[in-house]
Amino acid sequence: MSQAHLGYESRVNLGSYYTPPEIVGTAWKMIAPYLRPQTTVIDSACGYGDFLKNSRQATTIGCDIDETAIGVAKKHNDEVRFFSTNALCDVSRAKFGIPEKSDLIVVGNPPYNDRTSLIRHSIKDVNFDIDEDIASRDLGISFLRSYNKLEADLICVLHPLSYLIKPTNFRLLKEFTTNYKLIDGLLISSWEFPESAKHTPFPIVLALYKRDTQGMAYDFIRSFRFRTTGKNGFCLGDFDYIAGYIDKYPKKKNRSAYHDSLFFWTLRDINALKRNRTFVENYSTNTIVIDKQKLDYYAYIDVFKRNLHRLPFYFGNCDVLINDELFRRYRVAFISDTVRHHPFLKKYFQVKPIAEQLTETELDTYFRLLFGEHHI
Ligand SMILES: C[S@@+](CC[C@H](N)C(=O)[O-])C[C@H]1O[C@@H](n2cnc3c(N)ncnc32)[C@H](O)[C@@H]1O
Repeated sequence: MSQAHLGYESRVNLGSYYTPPEIVGTAWKMIAPYLRPQTTVIDSACGYGDFLKNSRQATTIGCDIDETAIGVAKKHNDEVRFFSTNALCDVSRAKFGIPEKSDLIVVGNPPYNDRTSLIRHSIKDVNFDIDEDIASRDLGISFLRSYNKLEADLICVLHPLSYLIKPTNFRLLKEFTTNYKLIDGLLISSWEFPESAKHTPFPIVLALYKRDTQGMAYDFIRSFRFRTTGKNGFCLGDFDYIAGYIDKYPKKKNRSAYHDSLFFWTLRDINALKRNRTFVENYSTNTIVIDKQKLDYYAYIDVFKRNLHRLPFYFGNCDVLINDELFRRYRVAFISDTVRHHPFLKKYFQVKPIAEQLTETELDTYFRLLFGEHHI
């Protein structure tokens, strides 16, 4: 096993999930066209240095805050210059002896964990300083910002796809996105990392960014076509989303207004929907009050949840997808299915439910048409 020297807590706190060799190989193929003899390649969270192994064409630098990992890395890679230090403090080229003028490529798989969810009793591992201008709740965001501070010409790293496709995260990356443009993105399931295979998979992107003063806006990401194993890849803009049809966060009312109300669990993304309930009978801080005019759309989400097994991992951070015109055509099948699973909803719909078998056939048709080539 990789990262074998670390116990569970340190692994979590340092985000130490070393990258499988095939993915390292793919990253090198992506940067190969940009490598020159004078290029410097750095992995500033290098673990055992696996990203720096086969790089005779360039000067290579590895850095990690984990001394033991650097010790192992040194034994296996004579040609790499290693630093056993915190990559997020006093970030500058000078820190690593990289000439201001030289072409710089960043590779690797920086840690991505939320610093507020770290395992606190091993505080010494996680209490390192981060330069104020790159500080963030999420270590991965800080790493991306650090590459901008190093003025890297090219960046080829793994990070959660949510950094790009969730508008709130995208905004956190402002300085980064002002100076870099995504030129290639391959989607990888977190299940490719043996240790995370226990959880619901989330999408990771092996992203290639080029320094570009034009930067990129969120719309650029919306229309970006990510590579998958499928023929046409994945593009956010290929779909319509439920957010356009319901209020994801309706206004708060006072408690008495909840009499005869229907409640729905707060909607975040598809992976959250997988874990959470849909219709609930009681109000709580995690529920929203349903606008009954839009009840059809809540039924839609409820049915969608039961059909999530049809979707590949890379939709995990997306909103619920919908084709409204098609949905209207199959509306009765959706409502029949919801009422079958939540009989207390029957009185709210003026619909005569159809037989279970017909419902299944119609829903199957709907989801196959909606997901197209992505349908599993
Ligand atoms: C996902 S692992 C990647 C290791 C290696 N690049 C690979 O892919 O096999 C993340 C690494 O980041 C290191 N790390 C975490 N915080 C760091 C920091 N502030 N400075 C440098 N390295 C750090 C961890 O020790 C861990 O080795």
